[in-house]
Amino acid sequence: MGQLDGRAAIVTGGATGIGGATARRLAASGAHVLVTDIDLAAAETNVERIRDAGGVAEAWCADVAQQSEVERMIETAVARFGRLDLLVNNAFNSYEADGSAVTLTDSALDYALTIMIKSLVWSVRYAMPYLEQQGKASIVNIASVHGYMVAPGRLSYETGKAAVIALSRQMAVDFGPKGVRVNAICPGHIVTERMEQYWAGNPSLLRLVEAQYPVGRAGLPDDIANAVHFLCSDEAAFITGHALVVDGGMTIQLQEDFGWAQARFMRDHPDTRLPEA
Ligand SMILES: NC(=O)c1ccc[n+]([C@@H]2O[C@H](COP(=O)([O-])OP(=O)(O)OC[C@H]3O[C@@H](n4cnc5c(N)ncnc54)[C@H](O)[C@@H]3O)[C@@H](O)[C@H]2O)c1
Repeated sequence: MGQLDGRAAIVTGGATGIGGATARRLAASGAHVLVTDIDLAAAETNVERIRDAGGVAEAWCADVAQQSEVERMIETAVARFGRLDLLVNNAFNSYEADGSAVTLTDSALDYALTIMIKSLVWSVRYAMPYLEQQGKASIVNIASVHGYMVAPGRLSYETGKAAVIALSRQMAVDFGPKGVRVNAICPGHIVTERMEQYWAGNPSLLRLVEAQYPVGRAGLPDDIANAVHFLCSDEAAFITGHALVVDGGMTIQLQEDFGWAQARFMRDHPDTRLPEA
């Protein structure tokens, strides 16, 4: 018997990467999962994988940047499964156009605001009438360690992910009395399918990244999927408004010592190719 038996879930961006692993994890625990993604073919592939493992899932095409599609996504889950208990807001489209307040274009800024703030508000707005019927429901919003710490020239991502943490707290306070818990997860670097090819071509750089993690490796999609599963389960019944950092200890390090460790790595591996700043 799975911990999530009989519950219905939506995972946005559920075709691949963190969302893909999350959809599989929730289904393996007994949830019926609507795997929604802008890439329907990839969502269908993940659904086949879930069904082959004995799970229940359906694929649905929804662009979370479009309000009407977010509304239809929620209605579809309820129509297919008869209820909604779990909502995982994960979808995000990496794009090249981030920048500083001076260099960021207005269209890139608008996109970031839409996908990291508006789309989460829309999905929760349309899901809430169904979630509150359950007495115990859970929303997990995927933020990032970038929501806490900043890198140069990434105004939209850092600000958007900080907003994901802030709105998760706000929603936790607003909807706790309705039996709906809301948490965020802040992953460190996760080697998704999308990143595997890049790292295969840059093995020495991957070793440098791994050296930045006290656990000695970067994350895997399953590391985040397991954390989402925990926050969705009744074991997390007293946890809401929390931003769970899942980063192998990367962000707890004292910056000064971290810097020396990186310098030593570069001394010992002088042929490491660094990305352009
Ligand atoms: N991979 C990491 O290192 C990492 C680290 C921290 C946070 N995150 C966050 O985790 C989440 C997932 O990232 P990932 O690395 O697994 O991404 P990914 O690119 O591997 O997968 C993202 C999925 O979302 C889908 N998608 C993109 N835009 C969409 C849209 N508008 N509507 C619906 N679906 C859409 C894509 O088709 C894809 O299937 C994102 O919110 C990301 O910011 C990732």
